[in-house]
Amino acid sequence: MASSQKYIVLEDDYTGYPLDMFCIPKHYEDSLEHVLIPAGLINDRIERLARDIIQDFRNEALTGLCVLKGGYKFFTDLLDKIKALNRNSEESVPLAVDFIRVKSYTVSSNEKRELECNGAHFIKDTTSGDLQVTGIDNLDHLTGKNVLIVEDIIDTGKTMKKLLEVLQKHNPKSIKVASLLTKRRPGDGVYKPDYLGFEVPNKFVVGYALDYNEYFRDLSHICVINQRGIEKYTSKK
Ligand code: HPA
Ligand code: MG
Repeated sequence: MASSQKYIVLEDDYTGYPLDMFCIPKHYEDSLEHVLIPAGLINDRIERLARDIIQDFRNEALTGLCVLKGGYKFFTDLLDKIKALNRNSEESVPLAVDFIRVKSYTVSSNEKRELECNGAHFIKDTTSGDLQVTGIDNLDHLTGKNVLIVEDIIDTGKTMKKLLEVLQKHNPKSIKVASLLTKRRPGDGVYKPDYLGFEVPNKFVVGYALDYNEYFRDLSHICVINQRGIEKYTSKK
């Protein structure tokens, strides 16, 4: 991507909007701090990302690779916008879709071998465990394709770096990354995707398919979880 910053930065002191200015499901009212990014703004920003993507790819076919589960809302909304542009402009980008799940695991070498037999792919990383990438189709479908990875959030960037390594092994023609959010972390130069919606403060955000222990995916706006939410939805084993 061009070196000039092309994303919206939400500063650390930005607290968005009070919850009672928006419609929040009753079951989450006590668990959230504030609305960080309302659904309408998410939608408008995605419209622009779709335009940027279509201008870059011109008439080249694209395979959208959705990283489940958190990426599903961004993926469907982004593709809908690209499809709308395809219907209404001179340029059009033929679209295919594929879906993967990515999990970071710390596993013993025995377990690792078993999971590989299940069609999972690993890359060894001694500092942060292994990455399991499970495709619905065989990832060899991506060979020779222009792949656009669609993620909800890039936090440390470690997972994305490892995912790129895994996908490169399948020899796609090109790989680009679209992420709705990145976290701003102190110090290090965090990985920045080719297409980015918003850079957000280093707080735990939920909604618009981003979860905390599988909760909050059914919340339309991107919100900051509060202490009560963390306590309420932390799995007690
Ligand atoms: N919210 C949801 N999922 C995440 C986050 C977050 O803030 N960071 C990394 N994964
Ligand atoms: Mg994710």
